Amino acid sequence: MHSNLEKIKKNEGKPKVIKDIFSKKEINEFIELYNELPITVHNKKQNVIKKRWLSEYGKKLEEIFYSRLKNEIGEFHYDNLKTEDGADILGLFQESYNPIGLHIDGGFNLNDLIFKQSLVPLTPVGSTVIFKNRFYGESTNFTIDEQELKKKDLKYGQNKRSSEHLKMFGKVPFDKDIHKKYLRHEKIDNLTGLEVELIYEWEVGSMLIFDRTNLHCSSSVIEGKKLGLTTFTKK
Ligand SMILES: [Fe+2]
Repeated sequence: MHSNLEKIKKNEGKPKVIKDIFSKKEINEFIELYNELPITVHNKKQNVIKKRWLSEYGKKLEEIFYSRLKNEIGEFHYDNLKTEDGADILGLFQESYNPIGLHIDGGFNLNDLIFKQSLVPLTPVGSTVIFKNRFYGESTNFTIDEQELKKKDLKYGQNKRSSEHLKMFGKVPFDKDIHKKYLRHEKIDNLTGLEVELIYEWEVGSMLIFDRTNLHCSSSVIEGKKLGLTTFTKK
């Protein structure tokens, strides 16, 4: 459990979508930056490519990104892990062909004052589901898959696996229609007690900002692949 609970809660709010925050030209620059960066993870089984935004790349874009985000959320620090050499990482690009399951990005240090996270879509088709339900622990994947729950030998930056969310939010079954439309990749029993706060339909040029304590996942709506940039912040 996070130690700065009261302060974390004081900074919480509803998720926010900011339209037209990046121009077409800037979006293309983000895509060029993505192409230049070295691959960090290529998980062929999950069919996902991850690239870290290393701070020596895309300097001009970093200034733009920082000032636009600061304009929306106020003062913040990045909280994006470090490279092997201890250098800062500004964000994480993810190119995925499969939807990402239910999780929380609470970070890896329970003394941090975790704040907001942002998502910038770089391809047009996709959606992200934010739940009203919150969790105040470290970065965790929520699952009822027994094989997943057995994974205890985690590397730096890997999420814990847990099913403890099912004890936290009551026994009301999840909405069948929303499940069918957006969350077919999740077993409906893994969503018991959850309520949707927002379904963010990806729109290039816009940005989604939400609290790091909100449970979320991608929707099952993917055409081919999708590419997005995520950044985590703390106070
Ligand atoms: Fe996430």
